Parts: sequence; C-alpha cells; structure tokens
Amino acid sequence: MKICCIGAGYVGGPTMAMIAHKCPDIQVTVVDINAERIAAWNSQNLPIYELGLDELVFASRDKNLFFSTDVDKGITEADIVFISVNTPTKTYGTGAGKASDLKYIELCARKIAEVSTSDKIVVEKSTLPVRTAETVRTILDNCPSDVNFQVLSNPEFLAEGTAIEDLLDPDRVLIGGAETPEGQAAIQALFDVYARWVPKEKILTTNVWSSELSKLTANAFLAQRISSINAISALCEATEANVDEVAAAIGTDSRIGPKFLKSSIGFGGSCFQKDVLNLVYLCEHYGLTEVAEYWEQVIKMNDHQRQRFVKRIVSTLFNTVAGKKIAILGFAFKKDTNDTRESSAIYICRDLLEEQAEVHIYDPKVSKSQICADIGVPEDHPLVNVSNSAAEACDNAHALAVLTEWDEFKELDFQAIYESMLKPAFIFDGRNILDLEALREIGFTTHGVGRS
Ligand code: UDX
Ligand code: UDX
Repeated sequence: MKICCIGAGYVGGPTMAMIAHKCPDIQVTVVDINAERIAAWNSQNLPIYELGLDELVFASRDKNLFFSTDVDKGITEADIVFISVNTPTKTYGTGAGKASDLKYIELCARKIAEVSTSDKIVVEKSTLPVRTAETVRTILDNCPSDVNFQVLSNPEFLAEGTAIEDLLDPDRVLIGGAETPEGQAAIQALFDVYARWVPKEKILTTNVWSSELSKLTANAFLAQRISSINAISALCEATEANVDEVAAAIGTDSRIGPKFLKSSIGFGGSCFQKDVLNLVYLCEHYGLTEVAEYWEQVIKMNDHQRQRFVKRIVSTLFNTVAGKKIAILGFAFKKDTNDTRESSAIYICRDLLEEQAEVHIYDPKVSKSQICADIGVPEDHPLVNVSNSAAEACDNAHALAVLTEWDEFKELDFQAIYESMLKPAFIFDGRNILDLEALREIGFTTHGVGRS
C-alpha cells in the first residue's frame, strides 16, 4: 500500500511520520508545493518543532517516509491520498472574516482528478465546513479517466506541543464515510491502517457529515471552556476571588472535569478561532441566527480577554506605557511549539505598540523574523526588539509580562531580574505559572489573570 499526503504542515508532517513509523510496509510520501518546507523536512533541521518528532522522522525518512515537491507523482502512485492543506479564514468576498477559504482544498481535488489513473481513497484531514466532501466528490467525479474515488473525513485531534503523544495514544480516531458498500470498504481500509496501533474500540466510524461536524464541535466546545473560565477571571479580578481556585473547585465535579480550565490571555493557535468562526458562518448560512450569535460570543470573549490584559498593564503603570520598556516573555501560542498562528502575544504586542510602549520580546523557539512578520513591523522597527534571553529582555524594563507558559520561565532567577529592572518592578503573569507570593517577597508588584 502507498499513502500520499498533500500538505507538509503541522498536521500532515507529524501524522504521516507516525503512520510511517507504525506501518513499515506502507510507503508514505508527503508532498507540498512549498519547496523550502520540503527541503527542511529533508534536512537535519525540521521545519516544525515538536517533542519526539525528530527521532520519528529520522528513523523512517528515505526508508518508507519521503518528502517531495512532486505532487503529481505522489498522487498517481498512492492508494490513499490525504488532503492536509491549510484552510484559513476567508479574507475577501462572501463570508470574509468567518467562512473557511477552501481554495486550496479545491485545488487539491482538481489535481487529484487530473492526474489519477487508478482508484483512490481521498481522505479529508484538514478541518472543513460540513458538506465539503460533497464539493470534493463533485470535482473528483469529473475526472477525465475512468477512476473510482471514495471520499472519507478523518479529522485530526492532535494538539501542538503534544502532537506525537496524541498521535501515539489518541482519545479516539474518527473516520466518516459513505454508507454504501464502497464507502464502508474505504472506511475499513483506513481503519486497518490506524488499527496497527490504536485499539479498535477507539476508532469510531460515522457518516461523512457527522465526522466533519464533530471536528468543528470539538474545537468549539474546547474554545468555549476557555472563554468561560476567562469570563470568570474578569469577575475574580473584581471580587478578589482566585480563578485558579475556582477552576480547581469546579473541575473536581466529574461532570465538568479538570482539563481546559486554565485561565489565560486567551486562546491562540491555528484552529480554535478559525473553526468557531466557521461554525458561526455555517449557522448563519442555515438561517440559525441565535445559534450563530451564541458561538460568536466565544470569540468576542477571547478578544476581550486579550484587550483586558493590555488595559490592566496600562492602568497599573500609571495610565501610560509610552516610552516604557516592557519585557515580553513568550510569543508562541502555547509552550513546546514554534507556532505563532493567532497567538494572543501578537495582539497584545500590537496593542502595546499602539500605546507607544517599547517591547522587548524573548521566546526560546520563535525567530525574530517570524515575530516581526506576525506583528506586522519591519525588523528594524525602533519599538520592537527581540532578545536572546529572558534576562536580556528584562534588563532595565518597567514591567515584564509572561505570554507563553514555557517551563524555563518558572525557573528564572527572579532575584537578579528584579535587581536589573526599574522600580517599582511589575510582573504580569498572563499564564498563571509563577509563584506570585514569592515574587512579592522579592519586591515585585504582581498581577496574574483572575488573581492578584
Ligand atoms: C492545516 C489546517 O490549518 C488545519 O485546519 C487542518 O486541520 C490541517 O491543515 P497545518 O498542518 O497546521 O493545518 O497547516 P500548515 O502548517 O499551514 O500546512 C499546510 C501545508 O499545505 C503548507 O505547507 C502548504 O504549503 C501546503 N499546501 C497548501 C500545498 O501543498 N498545496 C496547496 O494547494 C496549499
Ligand atoms: C487544538 C485542539 O486541542 C486539538 O484537538 C485540535 O486538533 C487543534 O486545535 P492546539 O490549537 O494545537 O489544539 O492547542 P491547544 O492545546 O488546544 O491550545 C489552544 C490554545 O488554548 C492555546 O493558546 C492555549 O494556551 C490555550 N488554552 C488551552 C488556554 O488558554 N487554557 C486552557 O486551559 C487550555
């Protein structure tokens, strides 16, 4: 059997590396139109930082795992073709700001139709609006040669930073397919791939539409939990309750559960905002106005949480940060990844620049060029500086703000940092990872999210 995956991104790369690792008899080829990215996958310096990924890739690469820009060849040779290209929020025309831009998916489907000379199972790995499989199917049906296609939905639930762990031991694998005998046979073929390492009872099969909608729903529920606890954090700050204590207290209720109740500067990442907006757009499309408004509030709360954090910095620093040096610790959207897509840090830095603050940013895995591109400033912008260490960023700063929960920030020499900062020295812990009590003893003025 041969598998091809179109899209060598955060999802396609690790997922295919795991399949290749677990199925040495299957030839797995990951193709991408981005030659630079493919070159990086073929080098010692992989384009994605993910714990355990290097070992996995280096062990299978050029044996049964290949990275290539030859998209046509990859598709032609494969029995199963995964589509794992990006589906960003549309920035133009109908649905701008909400709907998913499906142009890359359509391009992939057209390419598969154009070059295929044998029957194939086409698997949607990218998160898509419900009924996208229909579009893919219609395009494939216009294939010039006499080839049979089955379209499956197999959404990815891995979280970045723990991708390898999540792929190795997933809560579930979801496969949606047609209810026809051919559809069921296609489901079985993909089921058999995952069954090499995932217990059979964890592999769920549904119809295509349920599978597509389940992915959007899972991300919407997860995002909603974060917005819910963040809403409560605002109330905690007003009432001297402590959001971590509230989260711990409600999380012990088995119906609520302890996970995803960490109050923060708001969720980031490539998925939550895009998928919730996508859900909102779908509801609007079907005339479900109230349902759309209900889910849209999750995004509004997230925007509010980011803005609230900056307002708190400004008001604490005597209502102005103009010309003041603010150290920003962490820029990635979460720890253990170099991904900055939709990171709250981007919005917080932009708002601080709007207030004319001088930001000095340090992140252990994100490059200066990435940081400046995300904020939308040239690399020589006078107010944006990228430091090589946390200590360097904090030197002579009026305040420091933790925006990503990197473990190394818990181990910093805060006594030395305090001595190097201007006084009063302020700490804003946007991730609630620091021992604020201990920091106050050193002399800092401290603020967490939903706690003081
Ligand atoms: C993306 C989506 O964001 C997510 O919703 C979906 O579940 C999986 O795909 P990710 O892997 O993180 O997630 O995206 P990204 O890292 O941007 O990778 C996509 C890759 O597809 C890029 O390397 C891009 O060059 C490639 N691509 C895009 C193609 O090869 N062909 C195209 O036509 C378009
Ligand atoms: C998410 C989903 O978890 C995953 O199943 C899906 O396939 C893709 O989207 P990811 O975006 O990689 O994964 O990371 P996740 O761990 O979900 O974190 C998303 C954001 O929420 C991060 O910015 C994180 O810091 C934030 N978060 C998470 C909180 O603010 N509080 C929490 O309690 C949990």
